[in-house]
Amino acid sequence: IYPKTLTDLEYLHNTAVAVDQNGTIVAIEPDYDLSQAASTFFPRLGWAPDSVSIHSSLASHNQFFFPGFIDTHLHAPQYPNVGIFGKSTLLDWLETYTFPLEASLSDPAKARTVYNRVIRKTLSHGTTCAAYYATKDVTTTNLLADLCLRAGQRALVGRVCMDQLSPKYYRDASAADSVAATRESITYIQSIDPTGAIVRPVITPRFAPSCSAPLMAELGKLAAETGLPVQTHISENEGEIALVKEMFPAKKIGAKGDTYTHVYDTFGLLTDKTILAHGVHLSEEEVQIIKARGSKVSHCPCSNSALTSGAARVRWLLERGIEVGLGTDMSGGYSPSVLEMARQAALVSRHVAMGYRERAKLTVEEVLYLATKGGAELVGMKGKVGGFEVGMEWDAQLIGLGRDVVDEEYEGEEKEEEGNVDVFGWESWPNKVAKWLFNGDDRNTKKVWVKGRLVHERK
Ligand code: GUN
Ligand code: FE
Repeated sequence: IYPKTLTDLEYLHNTAVAVDQNGTIVAIEPDYDLSQAASTFFPRLGWAPDSVSIHSSLASHNQFFFPGFIDTHLHAPQYPNVGIFGKSTLLDWLETYTFPLEASLSDPAKARTVYNRVIRKTLSHGTTCAAYYATKDVTTTNLLADLCLRAGQRALVGRVCMDQLSPKYYRDASAADSVAATRESITYIQSIDPTGAIVRPVITPRFAPSCSAPLMAELGKLAAETGLPVQTHISENEGEIALVKEMFPAKKIGAKGDTYTHVYDTFGLLTDKTILAHGVHLSEEEVQIIKARGSKVSHCPCSNSALTSGAARVRWLLERGIEVGLGTDMSGGYSPSVLEMARQAALVSRHVAMGYRERAKLTVEEVLYLATKGGAELVGMKGKVGGFEVGMEWDAQLIGLGRDVVDEEYEGEEKEEEGNVDVFGWESWPNKVAKWLFNGDDRNTKKVWVKGRLVHERK
């Protein structure tokens, strides 16, 4: 099952998918007789059966393959703080909870523990690709890239740039230092994975208030020079927006307008490879600029609710042609699960709809599209991951919903192990998928592959 378009899932029943040793899907055979040996399948593709190693994984009753999830925005060093936010909102949350924790992760031993854990955790929830913010520390940012590469999780890894606003103990000494450290991290990450198939660097100005005008200008030039992706936060919280207006008046920075979006645009940070997290309070004018530059938006519903930032209008963005993906934004958001983000995106869209905008509601199919194919657009992997089509790569999860409740032999421990979803046996496949979206969790994520490699198996 995979999102064919924003509105429709494709259901390929009893289908065999052949994946070559590079992890690329080379053939799709519908209505394949699963009782046949796989070797009968390969000659039809023109291959000698002994020239390929055959991995077979069968989806059995109430099981299906689904594309791996793409978490388009999260902060690896903040993982120990998930759930810890009290009644804070963005700016006091950063001061109270976030900067102290991030600063402490310049300790390589602590960073190793936290980063290994966040990778294992997100993989176990089916996240095959993640756009990570690390910290300002180069050594441990590079360590995060090492650990993603070893675990086989695709990742954009960004060394966080911040030369103002944050406390002295956690701030780049100057714009020049910040850019030099960024270049150093980019060089390292490109050296460990020269093709960028698994890990890639991403230019990461934390957000406008943390970055001086000279720093943003230099990072914009770096993006143009290297063609690398950019990630940052935009228009998350009203206090933040007011701060940006005050810090970067249009006159002072030579902007053509006085919005948050104009600040990034003035410094060349809005490219077709820019991931903008949140975008809760964007105006029509701003969205038109973002659309013109081809920049994308990471919707972070859990974070936006937890930090009371607001309800982003995803339908409104989609209708304006903006590509949207989902982000856990840990630890602004408290959950490591992109499935949970899809669920919360559905609920937040209903809250937007309750403001008399009925068409704001997002369907099961739409939120699962955002979690996979939509996210692929944000991380520069359009047409490569997010679906099951010949030529795409096998980034996938095997989802199991357990046996039917009406199955008499099915009870006790086994049932508990299979999670929170109860399938009775008479549901249509679209209804089974809806049940997975609203009641599923990592107990249903049985196996996870990236580029054909098994990277997680639920024991
Ligand atoms: N804005 C600047 N830094 C952050 C961060 O770490 N998390 C979120 N959600 N917003 C930010
Ligand atoms: Fe964030």
